[in-house]
Amino acid sequence: MPTSAHDLSAGHPGLASSAFLKAARGEPVPHTPVWFMRQAGRSLPEYLKLREGIGMLESCMRPELITEITLQPVRRYGVDAAIFFSDIVLPLKAIGVDLDIKPGIGPVVAAPVRTLADVAAIDDLTPDHVDYVTEAVRTLVAELGATPLIGFAGAPFTVASYLVEGGPSKEHAKTKAMMYGAPEVWDALLTKIASISATYLEVQVRAGASAIQLFDSWAGAVNPADYARFVMPYSATVLERAGALGVPRIHFGVGTGELLGLMGQAGADVVGVDWRVPLTDGIARVQGRAVQGNLDPCLVFAPTEVMLDRAAEIIEAGRSAPGHIFNLGHGVLPSTDPDQLARLTEFVQGYPPAGL
Ligand code: CP3
Repeated sequence: MPTSAHDLSAGHPGLASSAFLKAARGEPVPHTPVWFMRQAGRSLPEYLKLREGIGMLESCMRPELITEITLQPVRRYGVDAAIFFSDIVLPLKAIGVDLDIKPGIGPVVAAPVRTLADVAAIDDLTPDHVDYVTEAVRTLVAELGATPLIGFAGAPFTVASYLVEGGPSKEHAKTKAMMYGAPEVWDALLTKIASISATYLEVQVRAGASAIQLFDSWAGAVNPADYARFVMPYSATVLERAGALGVPRIHFGVGTGELLGLMGQAGADVVGVDWRVPLTDGIARVQGRAVQGNLDPCLVFAPTEVMLDRAAEIIEAGRSAPGHIFNLGHGVLPSTDPDQLARLTEFVQGYPPAGL
């Protein structure tokens, strides 16, 4: 870790010794820490109730809602970390990009970005664009005490895919057309997003988040050579700026089996592994870094014993890494039974440490 500009001792005294931060730093842990990507959200009845009649992005701009939604899964499951409730496109909304998150669809952008002029029209993010984020993080870290808060942002490739396509996409054809065919527009766009995402992470860390996760959910769409040339340098900029604040950095994407080594080299302390890659293979590919993952999110629909058997295999496999944070291989699916996640959390936290 770089010398810490982010003084954890200024926060709750238990934070620095939390299982989550220890695992992220590759230090010995009392138990394998566990949290779930998308742990807050539609699988929780208390979330659905709170969100009634309130749009997704609006709920990300109201500190009291952000705080309550972030805390819901922590109260229910007792997970080892909270993740800030927001979205990867929130900073774009905050700087005035005309976009919305449509239920069941995802982010939709009114005027897709195609030219250098389109890129130039996107403002830079400054902390005062997202003062509600600062306020919510401050309240949250006070409430969370010894439980770490993970801040997050979208990585440039994944955010660019929404801006260029205008919405969710399977093939990312327009995004790749720009990447291969208009490299100067691509460079301008990814440079701009990298700056926005890095500032968004800095805001969260300066307000008290004690780790960050950079989501490059759709990076698995490119091959390693193109990743190294067109994607990695911009993610590296974001990770470097976050690293300068001294917090551990998690870097995650889906379908990234071939990219795990490069995603580590981009500047991650912890590399997220999806469920397609055996965790032991993932550990070998990230060369000495900690890992996070990687239970198939669909295993919660299997009988509890089947789910827990698979979880045990993952915990055992994780022991050959310098650090292992248990998680699903991607986000919690909306139809997940919260009671299954409660059982899974209890199982992971109660699993006997190595040597017992
Ligand atoms: O993990 C958490 O609990 C924190 C909250 C969080 C949300 N979005 C809230 C959300 C996080 C970390 C994200 C990140 C995000 N947003 C990613 C990267 C993570 C991943 O899943 O790979 C991506 C690709 C997005 C873009 C996005 N926003 C999508 C694809 C969707 C789902 C569309 C749908 O309705 O199925 C959203 C909307 C969204 N973001 C929801 C939540 C809880 C659901 C909308 C709702 O509850 O109304």
